[in-house]
Amino acid sequence: MRVGCCGGRWGLLLATVALLSLGKMAAGAEEEQVQVEVVHLPEECSPKSKKGDLLNAHYDGYLASDRSKFYCSRTQSDGHPKWFVLGVGQVIKGLDIAMLNMCPGEKRKVIIPPSLAYGEHGYEPAKIPPNATLIFEIELYAVTKGPRSVEAFSEIDTDSDKKLSRDEINHYLKKEFERDGKKRDPSVHENVLTDIFKKNDHDGDGFISAKEYNVYQHDEL
Ligand SMILES: *[C@@H]1O[C@H](CO)[C@@H](O)[C@H](O)[C@H]1NC(C)=O
Repeated sequence: MRVGCCGGRWGLLLATVALLSLGKMAAGAEEEQVQVEVVHLPEECSPKSKKGDLLNAHYDGYLASDRSKFYCSRTQSDGHPKWFVLGVGQVIKGLDIAMLNMCPGEKRKVIIPPSLAYGEHGYEPAKIPPNATLIFEIELYAVTKGPRSVEAFSEIDTDSDKKLSRDEINHYLKKEFERDGKKRDPSVHENVLTDIFKKNDHDGDGFISAKEYNVYQHDEL
C-alpha cells in the first residue's frame, strides 16, 4: 500500500498529548531544547528505542516559520521507511534526541531548534534557511538492536567486569559457531579470535573494553 505523502491524517491525531522536553541543554535555555509531542502511543509500547538501536521510520520535515515541507521520506526510496542507527549522528542531533525512548507504532511531532538542526548556516541543498526551527512528524516502525548493542556486550561478558577477555569471546564464538552447525577447522576459530583482538583491542591490554567494543559508545555501559 502506498501511503499518501505526509497529508492530513496527522492532523486527526493531534488531539492528545503530553509535552515533554528532552535534551541536555543548559537550564533555562528553553528554546534550545527539543520539544516532543507524543501523537500516538501504542498500548503495547516496547521495545523503547535506545542509543545504538537500528530504527526504521518515516519522517516528514517542515520549516516552523511557514510550515512548508522540505523533506518527506515517503517520496524517497520508493516510499520505504528509512533505516538508521539512533544516537550516532546519522540524522541531525535534534532527531537523535527526539527519537529516544520511542516504541514501534508510536508517532511523535517534534520541534527542533536550529542549534540541534542546521544552525546558523542552514542547509542549502534542502533549502533550509539559516537559524531555522524545524518540525518533524515521525512514525516509527521498528526498533532493533544495533550490531554492537549493550545486550550483546553483556551476553559475552559472562563475569560482568565490563571488559571482554579472550576466554569470554572464545566461549561466545564457540556458541555462535555451534548455532549455525557448520563444520569448521579449529584454526578458523583461532584466526577469528586473533583478528577480533587486532581490530578492537586498541590499547593492547588483552581485553576489549566496553569502549573499544562499542563503536557507538553507549552511555549505559
Ligand atoms: C542566526 O543567529 C545568530 C545567533 O543568534 C545570529 O548572530 C545571526 O545573525 C543569525 N543569522 C541570520 C541570517 O538570521
